[in-house]
Amino acid sequence: MDLRLSGKTALVTGASRGIGLATVRALTAEGVRVAAVSRTVTPEIEDTGATVLAADLATPDGAADAVRRAVAALGGLDLLVNNVGGGDGVEVGGFLSVDEEHWRGTFDVNLFSAVRVTRAALPSLLEGGGAIVNVSSIGARLPGAGPIAYNVAKAGLTAFGKALAEEFGPRGVRVTTVSPGPVRTAIWEDPDNYGGKLAEAAGVEHAAFLEQVPAALGMTTGRIAEPEEVAALVTFLLSDLAASVTGSDHLIDGGVVKTA
Ligand SMILES: NC(=O)c1ccc[n+]([C@@H]2O[C@H](COP(=O)([O-])OP(=O)(O)OC[C@H]3O[C@@H](n4cnc5c(N)ncnc54)[C@H](OP(=O)(O)O)[C@@H]3O)[C@@H](O)[C@H]2O)c1
Repeated sequence: MDLRLSGKTALVTGASRGIGLATVRALTAEGVRVAAVSRTVTPEIEDTGATVLAADLATPDGAADAVRRAVAALGGLDLLVNNVGGGDGVEVGGFLSVDEEHWRGTFDVNLFSAVRVTRAALPSLLEGGGAIVNVSSIGARLPGAGPIAYNVAKAGLTAFGKALAEEFGPRGVRVTTVSPGPVRTAIWEDPDNYGGKLAEAAGVEHAAFLEQVPAALGMTTGRIAEPEEVAALVTFLLSDLAASVTGSDHLIDGGVVKTA
């Protein structure tokens, strides 16, 4: 299927690994010129041929500066993927274990990064019409089932996408949300991140813990998704083949969410 994305320009945040890296690979394979932003520059992201920009998107200046450099490098932006999230650790304790600093840090990475990047990128996106995909989470729909600060920030991100779609749809910019369930990335696989800490708290070996995640979460597919699967959905939503898709939130969760 020709997605007719060739020659377009895109900014992808949180691009050094995981879903962001897979999205950069998918877009560059479609002939998109991509600016890829994360704090660290990995060999994997350098190998994609994207314009790689190092920035801390949890800060107002970092977000604005990254967009400025992306627009300058690519000569404008058609597409934006607000993928950065998770950050340095999704919490595993309950509400009373989450302090002020963690709430603020979580909102900076998972919500305000998208607000700030979008604010800086919109003038360019509005010039020729464009598309934005925000990467949220099933946690936005299941706030009681996991990390509270992260899920509440993601609920805000999903709402942010809907509001943007309404305001900027008439001006030629589509906005959609992708809400993954468990995806095989550092969030689950890094011993110091969410999956590793949950395994430790449960007193189960990390690999054995990951094996029982699909059943424990009721994934009807029976397996954790791969980053490339999320990237494929993001890429389709960015393309003109999805020209009538806007304001919508797309689950890619292997069937975790059981409601219609
Ligand atoms: N994996 C899942 O199961 C899952 C499920 C639902 C939703 N999601 C969402 O999917 C998105 C991608 O997650 P992932 O699973 O691919 O996570 P990941 O493998 O941990 O990747 C996160 C990316 O964000 C970058 N990043 C983190 N903090 C940053 C900051 N302050 N400034 C700039 N870049 C930053 C990281 O690079 P540096 O560390 O080099 O900066 C990395 O490239 C996130 O929004 C996450 O919430 C993931």
